[in-house]
Amino acid sequence: MDAAAGTPGSVMQRCDALAEISEERGLLVRPYGSEAMRRVNEKVEGWMLRAGMSVRTDAAGNLIGRYEGMGEGTFILGSHLDTVRDAGLYDGPLGVLIALACVERLHARDERLPFAVEVVAFADEEGLRFGTTYLGSSHYAGAFDEDLLELADRDGVTLAEAARDFGGDPDVLTGPGSAPKDILGYCEVHIEQGPVLEERDLPVGVVSAITGLSRIKVSFSGQAGHAGTVPMEGRRDALCAAAEFILEAEAAAQAEPGSVATVGEISARPGAGNVIPGEVDLSLDVRHGDDAVRESLRDHLRSKAAEISASRGCEHRWQARQESIAVPADPYLGVLLEEAIEDAGVEALRLPSGAGHDAAQMAEICPVAMLFVRCKDGISHNPAESVEEEDVAVTIDVMGRFLRLVAEGGRGR
Ligand code: HGY
Ligand code: MN
Ligand code: MN
Repeated sequence: MDAAAGTPGSVMQRCDALAEISEERGLLVRPYGSEAMRRVNEKVEGWMLRAGMSVRTDAAGNLIGRYEGMGEGTFILGSHLDTVRDAGLYDGPLGVLIALACVERLHARDERLPFAVEVVAFADEEGLRFGTTYLGSSHYAGAFDEDLLELADRDGVTLAEAARDFGGDPDVLTGPGSAPKDILGYCEVHIEQGPVLEERDLPVGVVSAITGLSRIKVSFSGQAGHAGTVPMEGRRDALCAAAEFILEAEAAAQAEPGSVATVGEISARPGAGNVIPGEVDLSLDVRHGDDAVRESLRDHLRSKAAEISASRGCEHRWQARQESIAVPADPYLGVLLEEAIEDAGVEALRLPSGAGHDAAQMAEICPVAMLFVRCKDGISHNPAESVEEEDVAVTIDVMGRFLRLVAEGGRGR
């Protein structure tokens, strides 16, 4: 039985429904420009239209629902509908669907705020297909880097071709962006993807800042050879060079408090059990809340890659894929979120985000805020991701109060 629109139950049911839409059987994966992305956009568009919104899709494939207001200005809510590989149900879609539920509640009361509300379902936040994040929000914000158009996925399809196949126009991607010109601010609801709210037994929390991140493609090349006839002495084994580098990245991040370094992807070629790997590509993700610390760690690892490959008679390549600076949340919007949380009878805790979010991109064009929702054991980027319906109820309530406080200029009005 379908729960009524605008209720926590409908948000949970819709998260389940969207999780059925994947590029692969048996696991949830929705890369940029995929058929699965097209299908979730269609589904969410239907829900937006039923909520009294006009809907458009921009050149990047972002789905944008608009609920008109009584006066000037537009407040943006949203998150992303793309996923990582073998994803959970809530990273991205929960934020889009809670934003939609806020509009559904206004629509059900036939209520209009003094400003329009746009709910944006961004087309690519995770960067699964092309290795760089915020592709959708960077176009929406008019900050798309045209160098990205030449990036190729595993099948050699470029981002420009993928955007065109998805119904977009690559030439428009690098243009002025699809966001309205009268933006008042942006607020993103997202699962915490960490343990703090659960430890403090709080359903929601206010994000103080979003971490900076560096994403790099590192390649090692040595010499492929026969596993049985080439002596260990003198091998130029690209995978052993990569292995030494990976452990160095781990050790360097462990030695730097508050930093993280992750190698999430690796490919070895030619990829046969009896052939010494000649070529290896890996992804490196380096983060810290302080940009200077992150950059110093990143540069340390760049010199270690050179040192390790030289010591093993290999070559290496270091290709920066993405550099995002740390983004503080807007202080004023943060106060309004805190007021809304307290008005809902909950302690208002501020906490940093170790994950990147589209809000980091939106900060290029407007004040941003984020509201975290407790998630079980802090697990994310994993099918075990889960939230409680009661916490979704609190979140919808807080967001409704927040929008009203934005309209009234806060308690201190
Ligand atoms: O990688 C991140 O922090 C986000 O999930 N894209
Ligand atoms: Mn994510
Ligand atoms: Mn996310």
